[in-house]
Amino acid sequence: MKRFSWVNRFAGATWSVAEQAAAQPSEPISLPATVPLEGATLRLRYLEQTDGPALVDFARRLSSHDLLFLRRDITRQEQVDQWLHETAAGLTTTIIALDGDKIVGYAAVTSDGLAWTRHVLELDVMVAESMRGKHLGRLLTEQAFAVAQERGANKMVARMTVDQHAANNVFRRMGFEPEARLKRQVMDRDGQLHDLQILALDVGAFRAKLAALMMQPPPF
Ligand SMILES: CC(C)(COP(=O)(O)OP(=O)(O)OC[C@H]1O[C@@H](n2cnc3c(N)ncnc32)[C@H](O)[C@@H]1OP(=O)(O)O)[C@@H](O)C(=O)NCCC(=O)NCCS
Repeated sequence: MKRFSWVNRFAGATWSVAEQAAAQPSEPISLPATVPLEGATLRLRYLEQTDGPALVDFARRLSSHDLLFLRRDITRQEQVDQWLHETAAGLTTTIIALDGDKIVGYAAVTSDGLAWTRHVLELDVMVAESMRGKHLGRLLTEQAFAVAQERGANKMVARMTVDQHAANNVFRRMGFEPEARLKRQVMDRDGQLHDLQILALDVGAFRAKLAALMMQPPPF
């Protein structure tokens, strides 16, 4: 039985280590893959160099609030070209979800390429409005998490505005915790300011917590 109600979680309650342990992806899905998801059949694969126009089309269907926390404006082709360039350079690994030929979600794992943050990988996830609430975000985050582990991340980070409740839920469930809040850090297109929250997961410390949980005797 779940320890927390949805209301508690919405109010900022945290996940127990047992729940976080249960949320860890067992195996990364071998890509490309076809995934049935609540009435839809989606195709998951790695981003390819020819996906630029489909990515811009996906981005232009998102709300400006969804685009707020991103490192770049992906509604612009030249910014998406930069993303593809980082992909070719091995800095970013992106998994996309396709419904037919339309991108309906992605998860990206990025290194900023600086020597002193080479142990840190940033995760970001985005799902089309029409596909939300079907656990695509969870699936993509789990896969991104597995990719980050495979790439040897010591620390994973994700950034979002504090009112992105679904994103908070998805990442905290995986073991991420709030690490910093940068006040009035994000300015939206209308000039409104928002706080930016950085969630982080220290891979070594988290693995130690999971290992300690395995050592505990059963609760009876
Ligand atoms: C975050 C996002 C990817 C989640 O995608 P999604 O496919 O709708 O998420 P899921 O259906 O997998 O739901 C994940 C969890 O969040 C919960 N959730 C969904 N919408 C929620 C909301 N509005 N408020 C609180 N919790 C919510 C779900 O109940 C689910 O919890 P569960 O695993 O306990 O059942 C999507 O909302 C999105 O693209 N948001 C904009 C971009 C963003 O904020 N990205 C994250 C920053 S890296």
